Amino acid sequence: MDERTRIEEAAAKVLSVCGSAEVGIILGSGLGDYADALTDAVRLPYSEIPGFPRSTVPGHAGMWCCGTLHGKRVVMMQGRFHHYEGYSMKDVTLPVRVMQKIGVKTLIVTNACGGVNLSFEPGDLMVISDVFSLTGQNPLIGPNLDEFGPRFPDMSCAFDRELRALAHACAGEQGFALREGVYAQMTGPCYETPAEIRMLRTLGADAVGMSTVPEVIVARHGGMRVLGISCITNMAAGILDQPLSHAEVTETANRVKGRFRGLLDAVIERMETL
Ligand code: HPA
Repeated sequence: MDERTRIEEAAAKVLSVCGSAEVGIILGSGLGDYADALTDAVRLPYSEIPGFPRSTVPGHAGMWCCGTLHGKRVVMMQGRFHHYEGYSMKDVTLPVRVMQKIGVKTLIVTNACGGVNLSFEPGDLMVISDVFSLTGQNPLIGPNLDEFGPRFPDMSCAFDRELRALAHACAGEQGFALREGVYAQMTGPCYETPAEIRMLRTLGADAVGMSTVPEVIVARHGGMRVLGISCITNMAAGILDQPLSHAEVTETANRVKGRFRGLLDAVIERMETL
């Protein structure tokens, strides 16, 4: 099946079951239950959306949830797809195309990641200022879908300045400071080596993870405003004298999810929709 038909079939199902939305949120590890905040939520398992991959990672429920939050139509993805699960970049970003089709103009991406910047601490929340990827992949490779966006999209300001400022203001009002920095994507699934982390720091990364960049590229291609918020769940490899584990990642994400949710809630309440 060609890419366009795949997007259209998935979007038609989502639209008929859950309706349209103006704001999209991709919930990363440990954040999935924020979807409970939606009122009048309609939930659709990914397994019922034609062409959708399945979530295979613990902590990613695999549910498309659409409802109302602070008077706005919001769709939340409980669980995302990762390249390391064996999915192509087109698979990974299909949900962002579907969001574009159903009317989403603002995308909030969240993730759990490792702290590369030595001044960060586990539990910190970071506004993403910019990204780079060392996966060697780009979801836009292949024929351009002109009705979705241009062949050569601009990435010089991928993360919306106003939304970033709003996130800082909301955190300040809630009594904590947000970090801000560059998120680097590696393929995973193994955590990085200490040498890779030193390399990433030299290259200008503040945080490292295994997701997010492809979704942001496709959202920008489609002209969406993007806000990215990372939870620093652990210090990256080699910084502390201890091994890394998915259990540590989910434990920290669980510990700070109240603060994370409070922040997202305030941002959604106060942001202007387009
Ligand atoms: N590296 C890559 N991905 C991650 C990490 C990490 O240290 N922590 C959470 N996701």
